Amino acid sequence: MRRMLVAGNWKMNRRPIKEDGTEDGWSMPEVRSLNERARHIPIDVAICPPATLIDYWHGVAPAIGIGGQDCHDQPSGAYTGWLSAEMLRDAGASLVIVGHSERRAGAFESDAVVRAKAMAALDAGLRPIICVGESADVRQAGGHIAHVLAQLNGSLPNELNDNVVIAYEPIWAIGTGKTATPADVAEMHGAIRTHLRDRAPDAADDMAILYGGSVNAGNAADLFAIADVDGALVGGASLKAASFMPIVEAAAAEGAARHASAMSQRRGG
Ligand code: PGA
Repeated sequence: MRRMLVAGNWKMNRRPIKEDGTEDGWSMPEVRSLNERARHIPIDVAICPPATLIDYWHGVAPAIGIGGQDCHDQPSGAYTGWLSAEMLRDAGASLVIVGHSERRAGAFESDAVVRAKAMAALDAGLRPIICVGESADVRQAGGHIAHVLAQLNGSLPNELNDNVVIAYEPIWAIGTGKTATPADVAEMHGAIRTHLRDRAPDAADDMAILYGGSVNAGNAADLFAIADVDGALVGGASLKAASFMPIVEAAAAEGAARHASAMSQRRGG
């Protein structure tokens, strides 16, 4: 049975936590409490801080997954300024975001580049979180499903398994306070699941499909109630414990409910 995942994407924000206060959004007691909760809830929790903080966060919160925000597709070489998936793993990462729309746009990453990065992540033993999503123009023109499925087709590694995570993040919803409606999210996540089943019938139902784009404490439970929404990639709301923890708890409640329903089905009840 697939596990839900709530992952925070800090982008280029945050510094090491100060022992004496919460001005950076996370205090040490809050980190300890997230770490403790993560041990007891039936979902995966991750934080993707800037790469310079991976080692630090791995040390202070060993029960949660720590992720990079990007990696190179080669293990080493003359690539000034880049980091390989192995290097992220060595620092303590267990996941890495690839193909975020801010990198697709800002670093001109094509689907082929994203696929190569996802494969490098898997080779290094990291779970890739592969991001896809349409612009406002594409959605207005009605081409969003075709666009996202084409991105998926080009960005997914050939071999799929439950280590591969998809994040559907409509670009117009990222950092804007606008979220897709539950009906729009259900339509897209259903289309993504069907695409995965066509490509990898044995793995598709074990793969988590996250929603991302202005997820917050107020909308998380409604999003997680959608059948093919298996968690969230959270930007702004992950920068503070006070806004991230309720999202984790909403996923934990949904994860527990899904687990209970799977168990009762297994017992034939
Ligand atoms: P947001 O960012 O939650 O601030 O919209 C999501 C993301 O970019 O992954």
